[in-house]
Amino acid sequence: MPTTTVSSLLDTIDDVGRDPARGGYSRGVHTPAEATLREWFQAEAGRRGLAVETDRNGILWAWWDATGTREGALVTGSHLDSVPGGGAFDGPLGVASALVALDLLRERGVQPRRCLAVAVFPEEEGSRFGVSCLGSRLLTGTLDADHARSLKDADGTTFAEASRAAGIDPAHLGRDEEAIGRIGDFVELHVEQGRGLIDLDSAVAIGSTMLGHGRWRLSITGQGNHAGTTLMSDRADPMIAAAQVVLAARKIAAEQDGARATVGRLQPVPGGTNVIASRVDLWLDIRHEDDAVTATLIERIHGQAQKICAFEGCRATLTEESHSGTVHFDGALQRTLGNALARSFPGAPTLPTGAGHDAGILGSVAPTAMLFVRNPTGISHSPEEFVERDDADAGALALADVLEDLL
Ligand code: GLV
Ligand code: MN
Ligand code: MN
Ligand code: MN
Repeated sequence: MPTTTVSSLLDTIDDVGRDPARGGYSRGVHTPAEATLREWFQAEAGRRGLAVETDRNGILWAWWDATGTREGALVTGSHLDSVPGGGAFDGPLGVASALVALDLLRERGVQPRRCLAVAVFPEEEGSRFGVSCLGSRLLTGTLDADHARSLKDADGTTFAEASRAAGIDPAHLGRDEEAIGRIGDFVELHVEQGRGLIDLDSAVAIGSTMLGHGRWRLSITGQGNHAGTTLMSDRADPMIAAAQVVLAARKIAAEQDGARATVGRLQPVPGGTNVIASRVDLWLDIRHEDDAVTATLIERIHGQAQKICAFEGCRATLTEESHSGTVHFDGALQRTLGNALARSFPGAPTLPTGAGHDAGILGSVAPTAMLFVRNPTGISHSPEEFVERDDADAGALALADVLEDLL
């Protein structure tokens, strides 16, 4: 089939999951938008003569069956789900680039010594069910299947129910030895999510490390009451406590070199303008390269939250939703990437990432590596995330060079 460009491939899904209210895209896992993208991927893989299968955890695999066995295959790919109001590239760039890289390998007449698969991982963002990299965590067994089945979205739908509705039997979720055995090496291409490549004036980079991060839900309970009849001195308002916790998290993180703490989601219950909330749930995203520091940060924020709540007549309960330690991508694979990139991108830099990726989770079962493609806005998890067409093609070329050397 004729070679297409990454951008023209992405143009074909440009209207899927647009979110006019937030801007950008909302493509939560197993929503109609994400289902459309999964169908798109299957059609694109089918057009290339790849054998597509969905595994027990809902991960899509498109196989170039170059040899007799899929054991120890070379795997590339990314995710198609997005954060609410996200950009067009976080996830889909890696999937589209993988398909285009495969086209390039065939155009070059590369004779693979092992099978190649393009994989699509569900719920990488954890935007719907709270746990990031849910598909790769299930595959590797780093997330308990019972726990995954019971996770609920904002409407109370469980992951088990959503999986069943998407045609995935929830009874079979969990560690998948067969899939693990098939991943010989995993390389994920991803839009860069900060300013690293702008500052280095390069279209592509090799990933070095992935920042450890965790997510916690803090539920603050107080006394729900009437906004008009309750004197200011008579309140146990969890929103007042939550506001102070947000500020405390910022202060505690700002005092620690390299730390990041974010409250990007906050939910008052029941959520009425003239109602003092009875409960406020807020979610903390905390990251640091030293996992022990991350643990200390959440401890300190929790301690501060308890003090604040005691003062405000409220109670705070902390629940960990997910956690991943800092990952150093495989050294030998990084060197292979460096040698491959030296052909078309001499001097390509090596960059750490503050974002989470399936490549980090899969690092527990196979050598993994990442390629980053320049984002000229330096902004991500926002509609302003962007990749120039030339840079997208440069990324696919870099990925093809890497895959050629690894095949
Ligand atoms: C996912 O992209 C994350 O870094 O949270
Ligand atoms: Mn991503
Ligand atoms: Mn993301
Ligand atoms: Mn991510």
